[in-house]
Amino acid sequence: MKRIIALAIGGLLATGAALAQQDPKSLAAGVCSACHGPEGRSVSSVFPRLAGQQSAYIVLQLDAFRSHMRGDPNAQAYMWGMASQLSDDSIKGIADYYAAQAPVQEKVADPSLLAEGEKIYTQGIPAQGVPACATCHGPKAQGAEAFPRLAGQHTDYLIAQLHGFQSGLRSNAPIMLAVVRTLSPEQMKAAAVYAASR
Ligand code: HEC
Ligand code: HEC
Repeated sequence: MKRIIALAIGGLLATGAALAQQDPKSLAAGVCSACHGPEGRSVSSVFPRLAGQQSAYIVLQLDAFRSHMRGDPNAQAYMWGMASQLSDDSIKGIADYYAAQAPVQEKVADPSLLAEGEKIYTQGIPAQGVPACATCHGPKAQGAEAFPRLAGQHTDYLIAQLHGFQSGLRSNAPIMLAVVRTLSPEQMKAAAVYAASR
């Protein structure tokens, strides 16, 4: 699957279609949708949903891929090459395009973790020095500017990112490194189940 997509994208680039020259809608439909789904509503949790994501956050991430600051293995494999083809203007355009798409409603992945997740999300875990997620990601997990929307994201993608922050694989986000430092795997899963399903 990964190879087929890589070949398809390689073909696209080889035809000389300059990505940075395309208008955001064609770029999204012709290139990004291969992984991120139509209008950013992907079906596989390897590929984050972009529909309804904060524009400022998308810009920051594409910059981080372009400068190789976000360097976990999936970022390297899928997004470094992609982002290197984009200009500042095309990044701004595609970010505004995805921010304007209606987000997905993600279902509750594990109802038995919802209550614990809600507590962590809204109150944090003072005894472990964990702040409430809602402070930055918003009461409805809608995000704001550089704080990403978590609502409607794949639960498994959110869990993978929390592990990535904790292990240092996604190392360019000092705020989140501090947040997840003391979280157990179950606490991360619970917070992700709650946040994704808002
Ligand atoms: C070949 C597959 C593929 C294509 C095509 C692709 N992406 Fe991605 N993208 C990914 C993967 C995989 C990730 C998650 C990387 C990770 O786990 O660190 C990602 C992550 C992202 C993120 C970060 C989202 C977040 O929630 O942190 C943004 C923004 C993004 N891509 C934008 C784009 C844009 C814009 C395009 C089209 C120009 C595009 N991508 C094309 C595979 C792809
Ligand atoms: C002090 C502010 C702050 C708090 C509190 C906070 N976050 Fe974050 N979070 C951020 C920022 C900023 C980012 C973007 C990091 C980057 O630029 O890579 C982020 C990114 C994330 C991501 C990655 C999203 C994506 O699309 O890749 C997840 C998942 C996440 N936070 C979950 C949580 C959870 C769960 C909590 C509570 C336990 C929490 N955050 C508390 C600021 C915060």
